Amino acid sequence: MLLQPRKLAKQKIALVPTMGALHKGHVSLIKIAQQYADVVVCSIFVNPTQFTDPKDLEKYPRPLEHDIKMLQEAGCDIVFMPSVKEIYPVPENWHIDLGPAEFLLEGEFRKGHYQGVTQVVKKLFDAVDPELAFFGQKDFQQVLMIRQMVAHFGLPLEIISCPIIREDDGLAMSSRNIHLSASDRHNALVLSRALQYVKDHFQEQEITVLLEHANRIITETPGVELDYFTIANGQTLLPENNKEVENLVALVAAKVGETRLIDNMLLN
Ligand code: PAJ
Repeated sequence: MLLQPRKLAKQKIALVPTMGALHKGHVSLIKIAQQYADVVVCSIFVNPTQFTDPKDLEKYPRPLEHDIKMLQEAGCDIVFMPSVKEIYPVPENWHIDLGPAEFLLEGEFRKGHYQGVTQVVKKLFDAVDPELAFFGQKDFQQVLMIRQMVAHFGLPLEIISCPIIREDDGLAMSSRNIHLSASDRHNALVLSRALQYVKDHFQEQEITVLLEHANRIITETPGVELDYFTIANGQTLLPENNKEVENLVALVAAKVGETRLIDNMLLN
């Protein structure tokens, strides 16, 4: 395919998988990928198998012209936009062992989500055959699950996790933010504020106290329905009470109005 001559010329190929509705968070992945690779491929594919709610799939934004313009401006080399038929020509059963963390946090609220995510990412990897693939820390658990999938198949590629890009007021950028009404948009700020509180007070307060404060400010916010706020081991995603453990992360998910948002912050 298109990439064959570049592979023969030993050019390093990076893949940035997305579902489109691109924002500065996606662009940051492309910019980082450009520092590592000769050719950056961005895929845009709204993957039906990772949606647990058909309504969510249906209303997923697909602003194609805007996306192409963003990619041109970012200097992305190749856009890969397969159709559903190309990715899933025949119905297929996919199930791989992603370890116990698959069923925690997002996995608990979105059953089967990470089977769908790893299924499509494996297909994108097979199609593009990149040396490197870039993902956002925004979807913290997703990066862990993709690393599990890569280990499961022994794929010869490197997964790089990139920092979360935020709006000036702290809200993590997300394709779903366009669904927020003005009041939702305001209320949603409590998520990053709660995470920031935990990060700022991590040295002087106990984990139980930090969690209590975070939970309280979120549940007190009108229009926000908390799914979870946890301080977890960044490898196992199990809740952690011991601040001495390395690689701790605070993770949150909540419905703000009709829109479900997730966010996280590394603590140490
Ligand atoms: P999507 O939600 O479009 O996100 C594509 C990539 O952009 C993911 O790696 C995500 O973590 C990253 N991203 C999103 N918001 C970000 C932000 N504010 N800052 C930095 N990076 C951000 O995640 C998916 O698509 C899909 O599950 C996919 C991996 C493409 C498989 O279908």
